[in-house]
Amino acid sequence: MTLKNDLILRAARGEKVERTPVWLMRQAGRVLPEYRKVRAKMRDFKDLVETPAFACEVTIQPVDVLGVDAAIIFSDILVIPEAMGLPYQMMETKGPWFEKTIKTAADISQLNIAQPDDLHYVMDAIKLTKKELNGRVPLIGFAGAPWTIFAYMIEGGGSKTFSQAKKFLYTQPFLAHQLLQKITDSTINYLKGQIVAGADMLQLFDSWAGVLSSEQYSEFALKYISQICDAITEVPFTVFAKDAHFARRAMGKLHCTCIGLDWTVDIAESREMIGNSKTLQGNMDPCLLYADYSTIKKETIKMLKTFGPERHIANLGHGLYPDIETDKVKCFVDTVQEFRF
Ligand code: CP3
Repeated sequence: MTLKNDLILRAARGEKVERTPVWLMRQAGRVLPEYRKVRAKMRDFKDLVETPAFACEVTIQPVDVLGVDAAIIFSDILVIPEAMGLPYQMMETKGPWFEKTIKTAADISQLNIAQPDDLHYVMDAIKLTKKELNGRVPLIGFAGAPWTIFAYMIEGGGSKTFSQAKKFLYTQPFLAHQLLQKITDSTINYLKGQIVAGADMLQLFDSWAGVLSSEQYSEFALKYISQICDAITEVPFTVFAKDAHFARRAMGKLHCTCIGLDWTVDIAESREMIGNSKTLQGNMDPCLLYADYSTIKKETIKMLKTFGPERHIANLGHGLYPDIETDKVKCFVDTVQEFRF
């Protein structure tokens, strides 16, 4: 099926675009009243993720309501640990929780390498969403990066420091590598499955990159991200590592098309470090969207001009917060879409 709007794919490949494309991390979620309405009908978050018709509905909501240039499939990065044998629960207000965590060599050897069929509900949601989108905009698939998934599997839930996961790296590096390799193999299978199901573009989220040192990040994170980048050649691929300012030069050498930037990094400096062969995505501070409309417009235009007309996909520097007003989000999207160089 031909896409009516393929701006984001062209920008990802470094082709000329009429204007900068825009989408938002966490665009499908609590920021939209339409999402909260569907969510209220469900027993819990996982019902939504695991029921393709509902996942499809909330995936398309931001395309209808905000007019973004891409949809991102509604799911979560934690479906991978579950497919490997560690089920998660999403606790209201508290976030993710794992009953079993990884402690020993035996725990690691018991884990499966996930296959696309283990995540058939995601594949079905992608197929259905592609059909329902009917070529309006591309559909982005995603997965968590191995280090971030590892961190949840060791820690068993969220954490400010992920000190248990880091302790594992220092005390059991050999086992850590074994687990990271299993997660990597599962992630490659999962992303390949998403491409077969119809995903037009993919993104890897390394949300907890920032708790590692530069040296640890090379050894325990980039090594595996690099394997994934080498394996995913069929569609444009973005690596977003939050707070990994120290890894920008190394990320410029990955075999991916795009690098996501968080809001803490300087745009010009990042371009110099990453080089001209990658499209950059980002990087507005989500908190800007608490400001008044004229400030949002002014700062958004400033960001667009700093990135320049080529090799940029506009986005935030991390996900939307649930209490941001929809009209403010719309103002950010409209400002990007109305701007011409
Ligand atoms: O719109 C989109 O971006 C697509 C959907 C999406 C969700 N999670 C839905 C979700 C995506 C891409 C994710 C990725 C994800 N999940 C990440 C990486 C991105 C990031 O934010 O750094 C991480 C770390 C997770 C793990 C996770 N899921 C946590 C820590 C939480 C609880 C915190 C919170 O925001 O409530 C979730 C829950 C979650 N995932 C929600 C949504 C919409 C909120 C739960 C709900 O609606 O009940």
